[in-house]
Amino acid sequence: MSSSLVEEATRIALQFDYPAEQVQRGVAEYIRQSDEGLAKEGATLSQIPTFVTAVPNGTEKGLYLAVDLGGTNFRVCSVQLHGDTTFNLTQSKIMIPRELMASGTSKDLFLFLARQIEAFLRIHHNEHFEAHLRRKREDRGEEYLFDLGFTFSFPVRQDGINSGTLIRWTKGFNIPDAVGHDVCALLQSAIDDLDLPVRVAALVNDTVGTLMARSYTSPGETGTLLGAIFGTGTNGAYVEKLSNVSKLENMNDSHYDTSTGEMIINAEWGSFDNQLSVLPSTIYDIELDADSNNPGIQMFEKRVSGMFLGEILRRALLDLHTKLGLFKLSKTSKVSIPTDSLLYRQWGLDTSLLSQVEADTTKQFVDVKAALKDHLKVENPSDTECKAVKILVHAIGKRAARLSAVPLAAILIHTGKLDTDDVVDVGVDGSVVEFYPDFETHLRGALREVPQVGEAGDKKVRIGISKDGSGVGAALIALVASKDQTLVTPNSK
Ligand code: BGC
Repeated sequence: MSSSLVEEATRIALQFDYPAEQVQRGVAEYIRQSDEGLAKEGATLSQIPTFVTAVPNGTEKGLYLAVDLGGTNFRVCSVQLHGDTTFNLTQSKIMIPRELMASGTSKDLFLFLARQIEAFLRIHHNEHFEAHLRRKREDRGEEYLFDLGFTFSFPVRQDGINSGTLIRWTKGFNIPDAVGHDVCALLQSAIDDLDLPVRVAALVNDTVGTLMARSYTSPGETGTLLGAIFGTGTNGAYVEKLSNVSKLENMNDSHYDTSTGEMIINAEWGSFDNQLSVLPSTIYDIELDADSNNPGIQMFEKRVSGMFLGEILRRALLDLHTKLGLFKLSKTSKVSIPTDSLLYRQWGLDTSLLSQVEADTTKQFVDVKAALKDHLKVENPSDTECKAVKILVHAIGKRAARLSAVPLAAILIHTGKLDTDDVVDVGVDGSVVEFYPDFETHLRGALREVPQVGEAGDKKVRIGISKDGSGVGAALIALVASKDQTLVTPNSK
């Protein structure tokens, strides 16, 4: 039985293979879908114009507030930009209660966010806050002290730098009454209800924030081409030629600076190929999607990002559990697994389990055993069981990393950057790219298999973690929005 466990795990793992030829087909299809998204509304790839028409060069200065809603935590921070590519960031993080994420009303959620901003101001900027209250009491006229950049990491149709309507929720959020509404207005109204000295100055996707922050801090002559998130969700924002964004012609009432000839586009690549014309699918992917709260949507994300990798693994493990007795007590095994193990709970497995298993290089599966115990309450698994788990984890993680090369290669090819630049800078953030062992190595492996990129192209691509992108990036955009200050064009850095 034990050898059949490993054989079956190997058989399942094979279904997660994503060979070169499929990578190449994926890239060609991504380029097609991205052109479609630039030309019209309602395409699979949203290709959302952000109205941010330049990236920073590191000389920007000032104190700004930023908040970040988009994953498991809500972050509030203040950012002091020093104007010499450095900054100071003070932040607080709070877990969003589950009931606010999926069953409450938008009013409940935004009031909760405003309360966190209030608490942050009281702790870190109390002097300003009290001064504001005094002025109000003395009726010396309203004054906004803080400009706030709102990082809101969901698909939003932007109609200006500080307004945009929510297209759909992703990553387990589901508050239907917010869809179709301006999320900046919702936040501003909750802030005003609490009488806070804050003006929502800019609406920012986390990928755009990552791109901006990377451009502010990155060394050398080159502006950053792409900001990408591989975390709870996945997405990218890149610098596009204005002349390619043909759908802008139909957005008559929008105003933006055309002098740079460029605009940052939020690709929303989590929804690449929702129709599954080229994405690989296993039975686990199909069932995960069917049981999710947004079937048929975010199909790329459901194969790549942190929120889903654990669930894919859970389903594969359950399969081995049911069919071949993985983690089931037998005459020869001492393994035990309680009925309240997260193995039995949908979305129960965290991606950190996969990272921990993948990182284990010991013959005795020391970390695999610890991870199984910590995450699944599995005690005394056999080495064979650990091996089977490791085979599955490796296959799922490697497919995610190789898939991640698809949008990157497509954007490199589409923008022609490899032909014109010696270094192409990419800023990344998110738990998967940061902590999943060898994620970048596998991604680069697939990138090199795309003929238009190849070894030479891969060498030109500089990938750097852009920590705190959503805070610093949002602050930078708030700065532009509030001061009407312009940033430099990507190529004039
Ligand atoms: C959202 C994107 C976001 C990404 C990473 C996706 O689910 O649709 O807007 O950028 O997650 O946080």
